[in-house]
Amino acid sequence: MRQIQMLNEDLQEQIRLAEASTEDLRAFAYATSHDLKSPTNTALMIAAALSEEIGEHPETACKGLLNDLRETLGGMSSLIDSVQSYTNAIAPTLARDDVDLDEVAREVVADLSDMVLRSGALITVNALDHVTGSPGQLRILLANLIENAVKFQLPGAVPVISFDRVSAPEGFVGLSVTDNGIGIEAAHLDRIFQLFQRLNSTLDYSGHGLGLAVCHRIALNHRGRIGVASTPGVGSTFTVILRKETP
Ligand SMILES: Nc1ncnc2c1ncn2[C@@H]1O[C@H](COP(=O)(O)OP(=O)(O)OP(=O)(O)O)[C@@H](O)[C@H]1O
Ligand SMILES: [Mg+2]
Repeated sequence: MRQIQMLNEDLQEQIRLAEASTEDLRAFAYATSHDLKSPTNTALMIAAALSEEIGEHPETACKGLLNDLRETLGGMSSLIDSVQSYTNAIAPTLARDDVDLDEVAREVVADLSDMVLRSGALITVNALDHVTGSPGQLRILLANLIENAVKFQLPGAVPVISFDRVSAPEGFVGLSVTDNGIGIEAAHLDRIFQLFQRLNSTLDYSGHGLGLAVCHRIALNHRGRIGVASTPGVGSTFTVILRKETP
């Protein structure tokens, strides 16, 4: 009996240490990305000012290089945003509000209206459930899924996307996001939920490979799971199952 108690105490201590180092790493990534943001923005502004100066001297050979610099700095700035979004998603504190997923999905579609209008996407939201959790994190989860659904399309295709309620075990709620995009080869289905994993060239599709890692983490935070079924050239369905009441 005494031995079981000692083993249990040892296990609790190991869990505490693992949680502490995860939190240290999270805080480190957050602080680093936060501190990098300001000099990157300053460098972007300087490059923009230089571009304007040079605009008055069209014969200069530096113009192309400056455009490359601005593009690179823009990419850096968006990578820093993605890392910050990831570190926020893995924060240990989780709000426990009543969240109407249907309303959040509609708000996310409205927030992304520029992207949606540009792509001509047809999006439907079909009576999603309520869940107890973090409204901010669940919004990020749905936003990443819809961004991907709009982005990973064949050139010239009209994205057709739907949010649907799906059946889930007792005590859980489920939703899916279905698109008619480029799809994913079966061999890569697991890999896409890991950090910095992308299957396409950034020349064809922009991104850093962080969005689905964020979604995966948010689903875990809500004691849930995320998965995908896909047919290359036909489309993908991402399914999210969340605990109705996160303890
Ligand atoms: N709806 C989809 N259809 C086809 N492929 C997808 C879809 N969603 C994700 N993928 C594939 O999974 C990869 C990982 O997705 P993820 O959202 O993590 O990264 P990203 O969109 O490339 O970049 P980020 O989200 O950081 O801007 C993508 O690069 C793409 O190859
Ligand atoms: Mg993405």
